[in-house]
Amino acid sequence: MFFRLHDHCVLVEGARKGAIYNLETGKVHPINGGALALLKECQSGPLTDILDMEDTDSKPYLDFLQRLTEMGLGSVYFSAPAPHPPLPEADRPKLEFLWLELTSACNNRCLHCYAASAPDVPPQTMPHERWLSLISEARQAGATAIQLIGGEPLLYPRWRELVIKARDEGYEFIEIFTNATLIDDACIDFFQQHGVHIATTIYADNPEVHDKVTQNPGSFTKTYSAIQKILAAGIPLRIASILMKVNEYEAENIMKLCSELGVQADPPDIVRPTGRGDAKDLLPENYVKPPIKPPFYTDAPTFVRVQRYHPCLAGKIAVLPTGDVIPCIFARNQVCGNIFVSPLTEILSGQSLLSYWCTTKDQVEKCKDCEFRYACADCRPLAQGSDPEKRWLACSTGCSYNPYLGEWEE
Ligand SMILES: C[S@@+](CC[C@H](N)C(=O)[O-])C[C@H]1O[C@@H](n2cnc3c(N)ncnc32)[C@H](O)[C@@H]1O
Ligand code: SF4
Ligand code: SF4
Repeated sequence: MFFRLHDHCVLVEGARKGAIYNLETGKVHPINGGALALLKECQSGPLTDILDMEDTDSKPYLDFLQRLTEMGLGSVYFSAPAPHPPLPEADRPKLEFLWLELTSACNNRCLHCYAASAPDVPPQTMPHERWLSLISEARQAGATAIQLIGGEPLLYPRWRELVIKARDEGYEFIEIFTNATLIDDACIDFFQQHGVHIATTIYADNPEVHDKVTQNPGSFTKTYSAIQKILAAGIPLRIASILMKVNEYEAENIMKLCSELGVQADPPDIVRPTGRGDAKDLLPENYVKPPIKPPFYTDAPTFVRVQRYHPCLAGKIAVLPTGDVIPCIFARNQVCGNIFVSPLTEILSGQSLLSYWCTTKDQVEKCKDCEFRYACADCRPLAQGSDPEKRWLACSTGCSYNPYLGEWEE
């Protein structure tokens, strides 16, 4: 008699415990160390070699296998079942998403800005022709989504031409991430005509607190009025919000305001330690993000992809006004090349970018020994920024699991 997990179930081993990933339902089932050892032995031989079927001590193990059978995770076989077919290999990711950081200048001076933008920062933009050619080159390399960002992208005088170029090149998704203070009626018409999506940010539901973050008196009123115009024009909008000490009690107010506006808002994020945001005294004192904890879920394509590629970074690049190419808008020091020195195609096929796209949790401190590593989210720039030594492979933040003890700490 044999026991084997079904083909859609994968056993993942941690340092102390394990997990069964059901790739049909997406559910990840944690199992203890004894269960892990039993299932590993089941992979190599008949049950009768592992357990004495007559011995009452074997009963809990047999009950466990029975439970797995009832849960649709595995089966008993009377002759040796075929080994599991190997998992397919994920294709090397193509470029999918492109950030263009059009300018370093901004009319706000937000306390936490990772780009350290402000009105007195020189705009530091690259020649307009280079932005245009980059949009074509990235599209030819596979990109279908583009975001114009900054600094404040609407301070870049010829931003409309870049949108038109992206539209002409066939980008499916064009978004402008703007503080929305400079949006006038002509912008609204343009967004509407060219199918532009807008992302913006609010830090509170009131001017006092919002303007404390932006350090630009009157900014809330302008942003809020633009939000109303954008919504009235039926332009797709998402609203981000970032919490820090001065606005940490605004989380609920922001969510309420967004729901009143009929805009879906993600729970606010906490300031990340990059640029001006890398300052301990900015951090909220009481607000904490929901910690990483079970239940974990995944799906078959994601499970396959994260064996080799990073779940978030792979397929993305950001181009800065200096021409530097980085793997994520937050990963300011991970420069993979410069488009004034090398053609984009060379940077895209280069080892440096590939090494970031290929960062998996199998390399990350602590996570590499955790049974949940193929289902758990990851933000490398956040982990790196939060690490005192700023290591790229520092363990994920916001997780109290100790895979070496198999325990969640308080
Ligand atoms: C850099 S801004 C550029 C676009 C535009 N100026 C704006 O503020 O919406 C893009 C987003 O990054 C967020 N951001 C800036 N610095 C950050 C940090 N240190 N941590 C987390 N988010 C940050 C901003 O709050 C904004 O939502
Ligand atoms: S977060 Fe946006 S609005 Fe604020 S200073 Fe940075 S670029 Fe400007
Ligand atoms: S963050 Fe790392 S240690 Fe924590 S559950 Fe996720 S993979 Fe495991």
